[in-house]
Parts: sequence; structure tokens; C-alpha cells
Amino acid sequence: MRYPEELIEEVRMQNDIVNVISGYVRLTRKGSSYFGLCPFHNEKSPSFSVSPGKQMYYCFGCGAGGNVFTFLMEYESFTFVEAVKNLAQRAGIALPELEYSREEQLKADKKSVIMEMNKLAANYFYKQLQSANGVRAKQYFLERGLSEKTIKHFGLGFSNIYSDDLYQYLRQKGYKDNGLLKESGLVREDKKHGVLTDAFWNRVMFPIMDINNRVIGFGGRVMGEGQPKYLNTNETLVFDKSRNLYGLNFARTAREDYILVCEGYMDVIAMQQAGFTNAVASLGTAFTSGHARLLGRYVKEVILVYDSDGAGTKAALRAIPILREAGIRTRVLNMEPYKDPDEFIKNLGADKFRERIVQAQNSFLFEVQVLEKEYQMEDPESRNSFYKAVAAKLLVFREELERETYLETIAKLYHIEAKQLRSLVTSVSLTMSGETPVNKPKSGIQKKTKKEDGRLYSQRLLLTWLIEDPALFDKIVPYIQAEDFTEGCYRTVAHMLYEQWEKKELNPARIISRFAGEEEQKEVAALFNTELKEITTKEEKEKALSETVYKIKENSIRYASEHLDPTDLEGLQRIVNGRKELQNLRRLHIFLD
Ligand code: GTP
Ligand code: MN
Repeated sequence: MRYPEELIEEVRMQNDIVNVISGYVRLTRKGSSYFGLCPFHNEKSPSFSVSPGKQMYYCFGCGAGGNVFTFLMEYESFTFVEAVKNLAQRAGIALPELEYSREEQLKADKKSVIMEMNKLAANYFYKQLQSANGVRAKQYFLERGLSEKTIKHFGLGFSNIYSDDLYQYLRQKGYKDNGLLKESGLVREDKKHGVLTDAFWNRVMFPIMDINNRVIGFGGRVMGEGQPKYLNTNETLVFDKSRNLYGLNFARTAREDYILVCEGYMDVIAMQQAGFTNAVASLGTAFTSGHARLLGRYVKEVILVYDSDGAGTKAALRAIPILREAGIRTRVLNMEPYKDPDEFIKNLGADKFRERIVQAQNSFLFEVQVLEKEYQMEDPESRNSFYKAVAAKLLVFREELERETYLETIAKLYHIEAKQLRSLVTSVSLTMSGETPVNKPKSGIQKKTKKEDGRLYSQRLLLTWLIEDPALFDKIVPYIQAEDFTEGCYRTVAHMLYEQWEKKELNPARIISRFAGEEEQKEVAALFNTELKEITTKEEKEKALSETVYKIKENSIRYASEHLDPTDLEGLQRIVNGRKELQNLRRLHIFLD
């Protein structure tokens, strides 16, 4: 169930986006837009823009974007309906009650019901820790060096010794659906006795939050010795371990251009308490490409702070290629003689830890150093095998210049001639891949994605230009129709935009409201905020515009031929005509007034 679209639109129009966002972010006017420090990622110079004309915000750094509803959904972790309610109240607009049936609510909103239960549970655990029941647990945290302030900041708690009191508490709060209670991961079935019990008891509790500060799961630790040391919520509808990182809700606004990645909850808390608020940990699982992509939204560099034992080294060696693949620079911090950052900071303090951050080793050199340990460098044959292994490793660098830089560094480090190492790299590459020459290993896949990006980019660019200068529509419409946009979301948005233009009601912010999910809204906002930096003169703009029109048409015809049903003769005729038209478009020059 939703509010009528007209009402949503009225709420949106009555809440000027500059006005609303100014309540959260300090904005300064620059030309026709306002700029500030992005509240959704770390940055030191402002790339967060708010456009009064478009009634949208967009961050050129992290890609966060949307209209005034999206902003509250992201910033306050509101659902769409909550954002509408909040802004309606702000503008003094009365909203009708939304009537949900219970089933409807459960079905549509299972996820948010589980989030609600998690929030209640986190609160419950927190209160338990502060109560008489939690004295020993509180003592445990304090003895481990956490301050009261830290305990509060991370919402740490205690699941007491009674085996079903949380279950009873949730029932009493109105959550009576046993199936859903089990699905939340907070409650499990004791098959032997045929009853439901709490998943956690007699443990200190770490609520795990997503980037929007919503509790999605828990880690529970025994106090002292005992097995298992940690118990984590199983995967649920809202708890996906491969896409969330502990502490990222704080780390993402830490205003550092790198993030510290460690292994444990306690490590994150110890580091953040010592002032390193840019620390995160994976949730008791191995580091995944999902984690890397998530981090890539906020920073270009990661420092691995894994335990300095064999397992930690192994985990680092696994994470490095994943991060490299995601385009993230990685360094590895050496914690010797301590095991983990928690111990290190307790013994040597924050200043020494900061020194280690500065000294953290380049991940490639780290890999080579670990590799070296497998060889006897005194033995000539073993040493040669090591050089070969290093040569093979150097091939991960696809760009020649980058590979060359590393090659020279390694050569110097191991006192061998760069020339010799270079020829070893060539010969290893030949034996490895038949005849692929070293300096052209760019794979076909990579090229394809680049080209695809280019096609999408042209479509985004045109959508942005159209909303920034609606007079362009008259010049573009003879050549480009909404159908010429090929990507699902692009085409939908183009249709809406063209329709608005025909009705003379151009209003891009309204289009965003028609997508309910934050991710979708963000994607749409990106379509309306694409920049082409090099353009300054009118002639350049005309040229870029004409080329963009050509590219979009060309892509549209290519797309149509690829998706043509062989029996569709009309479709075939359209493609033939399109190709002729395309010939003419080659000479097209669109003039701007
Ligand atoms: P402390 O011993 O309290 O300092 O814990 P730690 O944070 O240093 O954890 P440790 O390095 O032992 O483990 C790293 C992470 O692995 C933890 O934060 C948990 O997420 C996970 N983990 C550790 N032990 C267990 C376990 O017994 N079971 C499960 N499922 N996860 C564990
Ligand atoms: Mn530890």
C-alpha cells in the first residue's frame, strides 16, 4: 500500500531540498548548486552537491544521490513511508492513515519486521548489561579496557542466563509469529523439548549494524574461556555476511582516505576507541569480493590489520587479490610482537599504532616476502625457483609501467639485475600462456565492459543535459526517442522524462520518487548527474552533443539487431531504416542557440 502519487509529490514540493539538507550538512553556494562535505563517505574536499533546480543531491565522490526522500532514507535510515511521513509533518501536510492488513504487512515487510525485532533485542541486551543481571558482563568489558562511552557507542549488551526471556519479551511486544521469530535468528527451536528458546544466552553481545545504523544481526562472546568463543547470527533476510562489515557505519564517515580491515569485533572496537574510527572487520567469515566492492564505495586504499599468526597471514594473502581485483590499493600492517590490534594498542598505545600504519607494507611486497619464506635462498636452485615465482607474480600487473616499477623495486631488494628479471618475466609469460606477449595481456572481457560503460555513459550524459537544459528536447527528439535508451532502468526513466516533457511538466525529482528502493533512487539520480569535464566552449558542447546522439543511435540499432526476432519483418525494416539514418547522423551537427 502506498500514498497516492499526487500527495507524495506535494510533500516533496513543499520541502525544498536545499532547506532540508542544510539541516544536516553545511552547504555553500557555488554557481547554480550548493556544495558540502558528503555525509555518506569520507572526504576532505566537498564533492556533495545539492541542486535547487533539479531538487536533487548527488555526490561526485561516492555516487550517493536522489531527491529529498532518498536523502532521509539514507541519512536517517527511514523507509520510504517514514521519509514521506516525516517531511509531511515538516510541511504541515496531513496524510491519510495507511491501512495494512497483518498479512500484507508481514509479507511486504518481513525484512523491516526482522529489523524491528533486532532493534528491540539490541535495546534489551543493552538494558540487561546495565542492570543488576549484567554486573559480571559489564565487568568483563571494563576489564578488557572498554570505557562506558565505548560500550554505549557500540550498543554492547548482555544476553542473560534465562534461556527464553528475549523470546518472551518479543512476544509481549506483539511479535507472536513463531515462524518469523525463528527467521530473525534471535530465537531457535529446541527440537528435543519442542520449545522455542533464545539463540543467545549468557554471552556479551555485539550488535552488528549495516551502513545505515540498522541492527542486522549479533555476535555473542562467552565471558572467558568456552566453546564456541563467538556465536554469530546465522544468515537471515537482513543479515548477509558477505555484504556487510562490522564498524563500517562509523568508518565510512571517518574522514580518512583509507580503511583499516581487521579480523575481530574486539579489534574494531579497540581501534575505534583509540581514535582509529576507520576500522572495520568481516563478520567471522572470509573476506569476499562483496566486501571489497562495499569498501570501494568509500575509499581507494585498505590497510589489512590481520593477526600476526599463520592464520592471519593466510587470510591476508586471500584478501589481497580480491581487493586488487576491485581496484583497491592494499597495504599490510605489521603488528609484531603482538597478535592483534587490540593487544597492540593495549601494550604500545595509539601513537605507536599510528606509526605502524605509516610503515604498513605494500601488499605485493608482502606477498613476495611471504613467498620468499618457502625457498632456501642459500641454495642456488631454490633461489632460481623463487625468482621464477616472482616473475610469474609480476604478471598480475597488466599495465606495463606499473609492472616495470614493481620489477625494479624487487630487483633492487633482492640484488639482481632488472634486465635479467625482465627477461625472466617474458619467458615465464610465454610458457604460461602459449604465445601471449607480455605487453598485451588486456583481456577481451575488460575491453567489453569498457565499451559497455561508454554506451551507458552516453545515455546518462544525454539524460543529464536534457534536464539541465529542457530547450534541448526540441533539438534531440527528431533523432532520439525514449526507446533508443537500451538499459532497463535508463529506458524506464527516459520514457518518464519524455512523457513529462510532452505534458510540459518536466520534473526529474518526481521521477525519483517513483522508484521505492534507495539503490534504485541512487541509480536514477546518477542518470541525472553525469558530467563531462572537458567542455568549456559552446562549440565543444555542440560537438559533444552531436557525437552523443550518434553514439546512442548506433547503440540502439545494435541493440535492436541483437534482440531481433527473425520473423519480425517490420522490426527488420526499422533496423534497415535506422542504419540509413545513422549514415546521415554521422554528419550531424546540432547547433545551440
Ligand atoms: P577476542 O578473543 O574477544 O579478543 O576476540 P577477537 O575479536 O580477537 O576474535 P578472534 O581474533 O579470536 O576471531 C576473529 C573473529 O572471528 C571474531 O570477531 C568472530 O567474528 C570470529 N570468531 C572467532 N571465534 C569464533 C567461533 O568460535 N565461532 C564463530 N562462528 N566465529 C568466531
Ligand atoms: Mn582479540
